[in-house]
Amino acid sequence: MLRLAILISGRGSNLRSILQAIKTRRLVGVEARVVISNNAQAGGIAIAKKFNVATEILTPSGLGGWSFDKKLLSLLEKYTVLPSNGLICLAGYMRILSPKFVERYKMRIVNIHPSLLPSFPGLHAQKQALEYGVKVSGCTIHFVNEGVDSGTILLQQPVRVMDRDSEETLSKRILAQEHKLYPRAIKLIAEKRIEVKGRKAMLI
Ligand code: GAR
Repeated sequence: MLRLAILISGRGSNLRSILQAIKTRRLVGVEARVVISNNAQAGGIAIAKKFNVATEILTPSGLGGWSFDKKLLSLLEKYTVLPSNGLICLAGYMRILSPKFVERYKMRIVNIHPSLLPSFPGLHAQKQALEYGVKVSGCTIHFVNEGVDSGTILLQQPVRVMDRDSEETLSKRILAQEHKLYPRAIKLIAEKRIEVKGRKAMLI
């Protein structure tokens, strides 16, 4: 059983798509152990409760980097989501993990990002794509390394950019694809069907 810790900061629609996939058994061999939010107001907390998944709120209260992530580590240990049996899924988690934390959970942390990386990393990816004028954007699931949105890419889904798109309309179409992509990526990891060689993740 692959044990998930899902980290959120806000709305939690990707969280919902993961929990729904587990509930409807599209995702098997996977257990959501805990949802951790760094924001007490995050909408995703109510979603986790609705699915009867344990929730923890870890507010930064001035702590940064490793001093904050140490607390995160204790929570993961409390729920026994360990590098040996677990996967940390960042789902709209708006904090950068410290290198020390990433090292502990090497290749056991995945993130979803609303662009086709390496284009448009960081904040407001959809707005960046519109301002650049690309005709295709999309979403990416990648392993988390010590950089920002720069780890090995696991899956990507392109989405066409329409001439009349606003940040809102483009974000909405990308989000619909995110909801399909995240459960697929977790399934591949749970089934041990991913082999990573350097920057390349291959299906086996
Ligand atoms: C999603 O669009 C996700 O890709 C994005 O935040 C949104 C969270 O929505 N993440 C990032 O931009 C990370 N750099 P959700 O809370 O409804 O899942």
